[in-house]
Amino acid sequence: MHTISIQTGRPYEVLVGRGLLAGLGELTAQACPRATRAALVSDDTVAMLYGEAAAAALAGAGLSVSRFAFPHGEENKTLATYGRLLSFLARERLTRTDCIVALGGGVTGDLAGFAAATYLRGVDFVQAPTTLLAAVDASVGGKTAVDLPEGKNLVGAFHQPALVVCDTGTFATLPEEALACGMAELLKHGVIADEALFDSLAAGRPADLAAAVARSVEIKGQIVAGDERDNGARQCLNLGHTAGHAVELLSGLTIPHGEAVAIGMALVARAAHATGRCAADVPARIEAALARNGLPVRCPFDAHALAGAVLSDKKRRGDTVTLVIPEAIGRCALCPTPVGALEAFFASGLPQGGEASHGR
Ligand code: NAD
Ligand code: GLY
Repeated sequence: MHTISIQTGRPYEVLVGRGLLAGLGELTAQACPRATRAALVSDDTVAMLYGEAAAAALAGAGLSVSRFAFPHGEENKTLATYGRLLSFLARERLTRTDCIVALGGGVTGDLAGFAAATYLRGVDFVQAPTTLLAAVDASVGGKTAVDLPEGKNLVGAFHQPALVVCDTGTFATLPEEALACGMAELLKHGVIADEALFDSLAAGRPADLAAAVARSVEIKGQIVAGDERDNGARQCLNLGHTAGHAVELLSGLTIPHGEAVAIGMALVARAAHATGRCAADVPARIEAALARNGLPVRCPFDAHALAGAVLSDKKRRGDTVTLVIPEAIGRCALCPTPVGALEAFFASGLPQGGEASHGR
């Protein structure tokens, strides 16, 4: 088992290893010692796969367990589901000293985490990520949110978990596409801060992901600890996300988050090279690693459409967008960019006439 300490205002541990779900109860009881009840939150798919095991582990540690399941998918990360979850917690008489356990992917973690941040003005919660993407990104760092019809993650709160328990054995049931999406965020952490991690993943996904997940969590944890509220250095975690969110939005959310981030990372790396910010091998290595991990690198939208979509992104601050520029593998720079300059920047990372004909 790997143990990573996250040194945020309220420090916590991330545990990564195969088979950890069996110990979820004891670990939760230790991290939330005043809890007598645990609300176990999952989507329907994860509830069916791992709900019984998690509930049994929690009950085995003496916690009284209430289970809440919601239909899977980003389209259910809404105020309506959040409202139903809050009512469930109230009906189950969860108190200030009890806890919420988020068992599932990033949708579950964001939803349950936002409920934990706001129910009774804040209760403890434990993240038990079951997707690779949630393990390396969404479960760590305390960002919680739901979507509005107007955009993703527009309502949320910072609320760090009391503990993260990542049983890498749960990845065995993930579809290939979900694994690839997680690899995009893993590779992202390599590009931001660790060339050795990047190189270890560049030839494809390793059979045992625990060590890479742990290193990735360590990287994210260090960055988050230095800028918990996302006002400075944490923004480097948005590598590939400015263009990526635009791609997601323009596709009507049919291109999943991880694939969109891969497209965004490849595009920004090509643009960084075209504008003299990095050597040619940087985009070449990023594109090759993404492709070998089953991810798309060609952007199906043109620069004008991408720039227009960025205008509705919440990461825009006033009239500037902070782009994350890969200067080398393992080093990125934050580059505040006027929104008026975005289209030209994106265009420099696209072949003339766009890439639409190349498909995904
Ligand atoms: P998800 O939670 O929707 O999970 C993807 C699919 O996999 C779902 O259908 C789910 O039912 C299924 N699934 C989950 N675990 C499984 C398993 N072990 N076996 C089989 N199927 C399983 O999505 P995701 O990709 O995990 O996360 C995406 C979400 O995370 C987005 O809403 C995004 O905004 C959010 N996110 C948040 C942060 C953050 O810092 N809070 C960071 C990155 C992403
Ligand atoms: N996923 C980016 C962050 O947590 O800041």
